[in-house]
Amino acid sequence: MSDSFALDWLRLREPLDAAARAPALTRAFARRLPRAPHLVDLGAGTGSTLRHLAPRLDCPEQSWTLVDKDMALLTKAPGELTQWADKHGWTVTEERRSLRIQADEMTLRAEMRRYDLTTDLTGLALGQVDGVTCSALLDLVSADWIGKLAAELARSGYPPFLATLTVDGRTAFEPADPDDAFVMDRFHAHMRGNKGFGPSLGPEAATALADTLRVAGYKVQVAPADWHLRSRHKETHRLMVDGYARSATAMDPAAGPRIEAWAARRRAAIADGATLMVGHQDLLAIR
Ligand SMILES: C[S@@+](CC[C@H](N)C(=O)[O-])C[C@H]1O[C@@H](n2cnc3c(N)ncnc32)[C@H](O)[C@@H]1O
Repeated sequence: MSDSFALDWLRLREPLDAAARAPALTRAFARRLPRAPHLVDLGAGTGSTLRHLAPRLDCPEQSWTLVDKDMALLTKAPGELTQWADKHGWTVTEERRSLRIQADEMTLRAEMRRYDLTTDLTGLALGQVDGVTCSALLDLVSADWIGKLAAELARSGYPPFLATLTVDGRTAFEPADPDDAFVMDRFHAHMRGNKGFGPSLGPEAATALADTLRVAGYKVQVAPADWHLRSRHKETHRLMVDGYARSATAMDPAAGPRIEAWAARRRAAIADGATLMVGHQDLLAIR
């Protein structure tokens, strides 16, 4: 929604993401892992991917490296992981550079690592990990960067790669408004701006990623992982509409009044129980 990802927004989206993720791909990823894997999560934010995947991997010992360039988010990660562990009644110990979570039948270690993914990817040492994950990252990146990531994964021996929740450009507002397409065309054009990785693929990222990984030598499976915003998600839905309107107006300032009128109609519709589907794709790449 913006170029920096606020903690509040990541918290709001976490349950929608959890409900959307494709379970079959999670299970297939899990089957490729050893019993004590080292996993790296790219663009980890506060660790939402770990919180979703760790209990579903059936691996009794897991070591995660959470990679992000945003120090403000990384410093929040231990607190978010601790709250999550507390909810389950698990024990958390702070170690020198990591957090250790002792769950019922699983020991997790999470290390937070500041790393700018627009720099040289060899520093991630992907050859030493058992699996690579990312969530809600790849619509920010360019075709060129996806090519570099695919080459680095191949050079590192093709670790299993689970890339989840990539926006794919499908949206369905219910009830529909005559200006939905007008606004979303401008929003998607705005998504294609540069987020530090070169011109973003935005809604084309999911397809580009699958094609590039196949050419690099991976077997690729994709599955929809769509958000379904219903009446209980009114706050998130309103924030989405605000974000769509802001980005569309930045793209086409002359259309500002038309876009604001659309947003006002959508806000009224949300109050009356309107729903929204936002299309995402999950992808699993294995050798
Ligand atoms: C939409 S958020 C998703 C966060 C997390 N994966 C989740 O699902 O909650 C995108 C994340 O990518 C990170 N990011 C963006 N550009 C980055 C870069 N150049 N290097 C590393 N992380 C980056 C952001 O800081 C943010 O945490």
